[in-house]
Amino acid sequence: MTKTIGLICGSLRKDSYNRIVAQAFTEMDSSLQFRWIEIRELPLFNDDLDTDDGGPEPVRVYRSAIRQVDGVLIVSPEYNSGIPGVLKNALDWASTPPKTAALLRKPVGVVGATPGGKGTAFSQQQIRQTLDAIQAHVLPFQKVLISQVREKIDADRGVLTDEKTRTYLQRYLQHFVHWIDHIPVLD
Ligand code: FNR
Repeated sequence: MTKTIGLICGSLRKDSYNRIVAQAFTEMDSSLQFRWIEIRELPLFNDDLDTDDGGPEPVRVYRSAIRQVDGVLIVSPEYNSGIPGVLKNALDWASTPPKTAALLRKPVGVVGATPGGKGTAFSQQQIRQTLDAIQAHVLPFQKVLISQVREKIDADRGVLTDEKTRTYLQRYLQHFVHWIDHIPVLD
């Protein structure tokens, strides 16, 4: 059966490099379906809003979008050596209610790009830490840290052009699909 992969971008910026990187995934395997899962409309997490009826409409739409996909790829920048606030907010909304959280046992991959030299290493570490707390199934071992991203894209066309980076991403996607199929079921 065709797998559907959700894409979450940790940047709200219109010309986000991370969004360009995420877009590249959609061109890499025609046997997969890709669906953007947007986080822009989510309110700031507030436990008071997290009501039994599923909470505010944007939260319901977002949680339902995660539930409908076989796995989620997060492509995110790093802000101040950490996870962007908008992404942390989105992950928190996918962490409740604890027993039926949208990201609970969901296969998740983490990738990041930066114009800087460290490839979002700190941000990815924090994203993984949060996903571990939620008990998502994060793809282990494999990492894609994209540094100097401005030199790897055609910003005018919004395309990732660097062949080496495309190969890394393609391999990551293959590992991720394999991960979805082989996650140990422990419950
Ligand atoms: C940054 N940026 C950045 N980059 C990095 O590699 N490590 C960091 O700690 C930070 N910190 C940081 C803080 C703030 C407030 C901003 C606005 C930016 C630079 C960041 O990588 C750059 O703006 C990217 O272009 C953001 O990703 P998108 O929006 O292009 O996907």
